[in-house]
Amino acid sequence: MKFFVDTADVAAIAELDALGMVDGVTTNPSLIMKSGRDIHEVTREICALVAGPVSAEVVATEADAMIREGRRLAEIADNIAVKVPMTWDGLKACRALRNDGCMVNVTLCFSTNQALLAAKAGASFISPFIGRLDDINLDGLQLIGDIRIIYDNYGFETEVLAASIRSANHIAECAKLGADVATAPPDVIRKLVQHPLTDRGMDAFLADWAKTGQRIVA
Ligand code: E4P
Repeated sequence: MKFFVDTADVAAIAELDALGMVDGVTTNPSLIMKSGRDIHEVTREICALVAGPVSAEVVATEADAMIREGRRLAEIADNIAVKVPMTWDGLKACRALRNDGCMVNVTLCFSTNQALLAAKAGASFISPFIGRLDDINLDGLQLIGDIRIIYDNYGFETEVLAASIRSANHIAECAKLGADVATAPPDVIRKLVQHPLTDRGMDAFLADWAKTGQRIVA
C-alpha cells in the first residue's frame, strides 16, 4: 500500500520523505489555509520535494471553471494530480482533464455509486472519506472494502485512495481491505510505530545494559 501524506506542511513532508514514507501528498483548501502559504508557491515546493503524485484541489463549482483551474494547477509540475469534487461538474472536469493527460483525484466520495461514476469518468484516484463517514455513525471502512470489490469486479484501474484517516487502526484496516493508497496526516503516520510492548522491551533492555557497564562505542 502506498502512503500519501495529507498535509501542506512542507517540513512535515520532508521529515517523512527522508525515511522513504512518502509516495505522494494530498492537499485540500482547508490544508492550504492551515499552512498559511500561497497555493501555487507551497504546491510547487511540495512537487519539487516528492516524486509521486501531489493532489491540488480546484475550488470552482462549475465544470468549465474547474477545468481552467485544473489546467493552471497542472502547470505547476508534472506530478500534480488535480483534485475535483464528486459532483456532476466535477466528473465533467475529471473527464476533460484526463483527456488532457492530467492525473485526476475525485474527492469527497461517500458512496459506492459515486466511486463507480468516478471510475467511469476515468479518475486516476477516488478518495473515499473514512473519518467523516464514521463521524455520522456510518462505516467508512466498509466503503473502502465495497469499492475494492466493485473495482475488481470490473477491472477499473482507478486507484482507491483511502482518505479522512484519523487513526493508525484505519491504516491497518485499509491495508487489509486492499486500498491502493492511504493518505493520512503526519501525526497518524508517526503513530504507526507505536506499541507498548516495544516501549517496555526497550526499557528492559536499556536497564539490563546499564548493569553491564559496557559501551559499544568508546
Ligand atoms: C483527502 O484528500 C482529504 O484531504 C482529507 O483526507 C480529509 O480529511 P479530514 O476529513 O480529516 O479533513
